[in-house]
Amino acid sequence: MSDNKTFAPSSAFQAQAIAGAELYAKAKADRLGFWAEQAKSLHWHKPFTEVLDWSHAPVARWFDDGELNVSYNCLDRHVEAGLGDRVALYFEGEPGDRRVITYSELTAEVKKAANVLINLGVVKGDRVAIYMPMIPEAVITMLAVARLGAIHSVVFGGFSSDALATRINDADVRVVVTADGGYRKGKASALKPAVDEALADGKCPTVEQVLVVKRTGEDVTWTEKDHWWHDEMAKAETEHMAQAFPSEQELFILYTSGTTGAPKGILHTSGGYLTQATYTHRNIFDLHPETDVYWCTADIGWITGHSYVVYGPLANGASQVIFEGTPDAPHPGRWWEIIERYKVSIFYTAPTAIRSFMKLGREIPDKFDLSSLRVLGSVGEPINPEAWLWYRDVIGGGHCPIVDTWWQTETGAIMVSPLPGVTSLKPGSAQTPVPGIEIKIVNDQGQEVPRGEAGLLTITEPWPSMLRGIWRNPGRFHEAYWSNFEGQYFAGDGAKWDEDGDLWLLGRVDDVMNVSGHRLSTAEIESSLVGHPWVAEAAVVGAKDEITGQAVVAFVILRLDQVEAAGAAENISKILREHVSKDIGPIARPRQIMVVAELPKTRSGKIMRRLLRDVAEDRPIGDVTTLADTSVMSVISSKIAGGASD
Ligand code: PRX
Repeated sequence: MSDNKTFAPSSAFQAQAIAGAELYAKAKADRLGFWAEQAKSLHWHKPFTEVLDWSHAPVARWFDDGELNVSYNCLDRHVEAGLGDRVALYFEGEPGDRRVITYSELTAEVKKAANVLINLGVVKGDRVAIYMPMIPEAVITMLAVARLGAIHSVVFGGFSSDALATRINDADVRVVVTADGGYRKGKASALKPAVDEALADGKCPTVEQVLVVKRTGEDVTWTEKDHWWHDEMAKAETEHMAQAFPSEQELFILYTSGTTGAPKGILHTSGGYLTQATYTHRNIFDLHPETDVYWCTADIGWITGHSYVVYGPLANGASQVIFEGTPDAPHPGRWWEIIERYKVSIFYTAPTAIRSFMKLGREIPDKFDLSSLRVLGSVGEPINPEAWLWYRDVIGGGHCPIVDTWWQTETGAIMVSPLPGVTSLKPGSAQTPVPGIEIKIVNDQGQEVPRGEAGLLTITEPWPSMLRGIWRNPGRFHEAYWSNFEGQYFAGDGAKWDEDGDLWLLGRVDDVMNVSGHRLSTAEIESSLVGHPWVAEAAVVGAKDEITGQAVVAFVILRLDQVEAAGAAENISKILREHVSKDIGPIARPRQIMVVAELPKTRSGKIMRRLLRDVAEDRPIGDVTTLADTSVMSVISSKIAGGASD
């Protein structure tokens, strides 16, 4: 069984590794001293004297009396150290356009962009929404916002205008930065119309200015709030001195799905976040910035794009690839071609991508020279051992260590992962808390469970990149993470230690789904469905899916009078799936909609999703004794078997 097969680091890898086993001992001996040492790898305009103030728990203050500028740490300091000619970004646009941007050039662009934002009235603490494709201007904007001590809220370009409007309004955004569009699967895909729609009819009253990058050149409608990026950049001053801000200056808000309908605005601050993003990026990926070419395939719309495309790699002075589009366009070997072209040495992606490549067969990657690779990473969901082994053999040539990294939007940076020069790797297990991180697996009562037994993953000591709250919602912050177990952060994940003391992640234990490594809330999709006039009630579950990990399956009770009035006997599922896609974004579109007459509920009215999952995964139905009406499930399953799903 793959549980026991491990892969020890080669002695050659070990000999050159950035992180050695002594990190664990150092962090154990003096955790706060250890984090202080990591923080000192950054440039502090004013050094800190205090490491952690936990007196306002669960809101931590790290390096509180220190002052720094996050953008300066990612840019100017490298140029000042004589590294200005090092490549920061190798950009691969989908139509085949390429740009190589050095640290000097990136610094110059960010300085100008900071001046553009100043000219548009942005000051410290203002919120700026970023709704952009994966182009260098997206990275430039994030760093420009950070440079001013303003707060960015990146909204994934695949989200709908409604989702954008909700996020803009929750944070009272003043300026939106967008593009006319980006390229996806061989076509221009518009973005600006979604911003127009979000702002129409005074729906987002706080937005004063919109800055628009010209990417596709498609026609756009123009309002008095709109400014072209290139016009403003041409006018802007070139010099901008980065000012020091307190360590706890807010850096960004990033919305993520929780167990209830509205997305949560996860708040991160500067010094602690940058410390842990930088430290983990260097040690876990074994980054040698002078020689490595790093590539993380995440979009900046997700936390992985924040910490491991923008802040960690740039603070470490890495050279990295960023790409626009999808892995399969213009051809299914695109990623491997990119690795070959840039001699990528460190590659970080998600299990769902690996599984889809596996399905296409090794003939595709085998056509390319992947011999530059030396470290592989995985993130977003558990990686099944089969996919792990394929990743190692076919992509990693049988010799690259794989770091399976567990973390969350809320944790800000990696929390559990092997160290590639230390850990004997075990396929499918994330294995070990990162040095400096304390994790316990507990039962419902908060007692630690023995090895081999499943429990709930909790984090027992504050960590530098931890979230500082939910934007303007301290009550929800407390309730969501700190109310289950006194003084411990509850992550929402099930986990176990195996007999060797390695950690295995067992998936979410709440109503959050994980589709292709993206978090989706069952409640958010249910509320979208019942927002449609034909739907009386809806229940959504995440059902196992071979490629995407989980897939959205919805059970709906129809309002038959409405359906009849609309004369829509056919295509009901298709229409409802499109409705969700438009409402939230294509990633939330249900794979399947099952029309049912009733939903299984407990006597207190709670929907028993466990039973619906049994149906969705085509398994025998589990224990139904707590249902208010025990016959409901047989009605549902016979109806489904009779072909009621789409
Ligand atoms: O369930 C865990 C899963 O993804 C959740 C966090 O999602 P999000 O905030 O969108 O961040 C994803 C990228 C960091 C976690 O609660 N997850 C993430 N990484 C892993 C994982 N599950 C198992 N193994 C992982 N390596």
